[in-house]
Amino acid sequence: MVASSDNNGFIPLAVPEIRGNEWKYVKECLDTNWVSSVGSFVDRFEDMLAEYVGSKHAVATVNGTAALHVSLLVAGIEPDDEVIVSTLTFVAPVNAIRYVGAWPVFMDAEPDYWQMDPKKLERFLAEECQWKDGVLVNKASGRRVRAIIPVHVLGHPCDMTPIMELANKYGLTVIEDATESLGAGYDGRLLGRFGDIACFSFNGNKLITTGGGGMIVTDNQEWADRARYLTTQAKDDPIEYYHNEIGYNYRLTNIQAAMGVAQVEVLDELIEAKRTIARRYDEELRSIEGLTLMPTQPETTPVYWLYTILMSPGTTLEERKETIKTLNQQGVGSRPLWHPIHGLPPYADCQSYQMDASMDLYNRAISIPCSSGLTEIEQQRCIDSLKAVLG
Ligand SMILES: Cc1ncc(COP(=O)(O)O)c(C=O)c1O
Repeated sequence: MVASSDNNGFIPLAVPEIRGNEWKYVKECLDTNWVSSVGSFVDRFEDMLAEYVGSKHAVATVNGTAALHVSLLVAGIEPDDEVIVSTLTFVAPVNAIRYVGAWPVFMDAEPDYWQMDPKKLERFLAEECQWKDGVLVNKASGRRVRAIIPVHVLGHPCDMTPIMELANKYGLTVIEDATESLGAGYDGRLLGRFGDIACFSFNGNKLITTGGGGMIVTDNQEWADRARYLTTQAKDDPIEYYHNEIGYNYRLTNIQAAMGVAQVEVLDELIEAKRTIARRYDEELRSIEGLTLMPTQPETTPVYWLYTILMSPGTTLEERKETIKTLNQQGVGSRPLWHPIHGLPPYADCQSYQMDASMDLYNRAISIPCSSGLTEIEQQRCIDSLKAVLG
């Protein structure tokens, strides 16, 4: 294990932890020439992840965004359909909705736990949608409402019980974006087990990494087969180069999967390390007046992908930006939450529903270093800086 800080003593927000077998397994790929997207590590990585999450099938992809794109395709989401999605998220799941020609409808975050607000979701479906000839239609746009993408942000779960009840009541497909939350639990089950299909990311800053990579998990055999087909250029006859459909070059390589296998082997240890760091931050930062600590919902077991705090109510965007600048100058890597997507230029004309909490969270939130390899000395430096800057 190596300390997280770089040669200048700067502590980044999230760095990978390479414990050892990554070298061995990647060397095996290089030694045997199995470097591309066919190879035993791809199968092993898929099997290990499916077993870890508790899913019947897993399909490895080049990244989490591709996993989301293909999930929407296999779920049959079509051009001009609508998909309800969290506004407080990294932009990838929303872009994926547009890749298939569908439209996002943005749902606000709820203020206490920062995830998709199930009460607003319920109100939107009851008041803003109607059934027409057996199809759920958005009254404002006249389009079919087909799916929900709850994004489990920061390593914490969305409130899946009410979300799944609503999805069942309204016949909506649920695609979980669990890219930031591998290993997090809700009501006794791991994320990725609630929706019809779910996606993970193994980008360099994620809990485990393959450099870049993603995974689709589902219990639906047909969808898994189709995801495998679409991600490998939709090859119907690989000898004759015959393709019945337009496919994608979205499969993970064996080299990347080799890294993934080594990372899954230590996943539980990495999660435990992050939970320990989060507990220490909770204890130490509690005394800073006005600060809101990262909340944990009852009956959940978060993985604290990015430990995030809220500055006091009423903090302006400028004050938050200045604070992040100061922390970074002090060598404590910090950054804000994502700008709520409904306010970004490509999505400004899309429907957003009763936005309120997400902008306030964006104005006040700061994510601080929480790599699994963060040493106690580095943790103390972060705590001291935060106390000095915010106390
Ligand atoms: C919520 C969310 N969805 C999707 C992605 C996309 O994953 P990738 O970077 O592997 O494409 C990310 C992050 O990277 C993310 O944070």
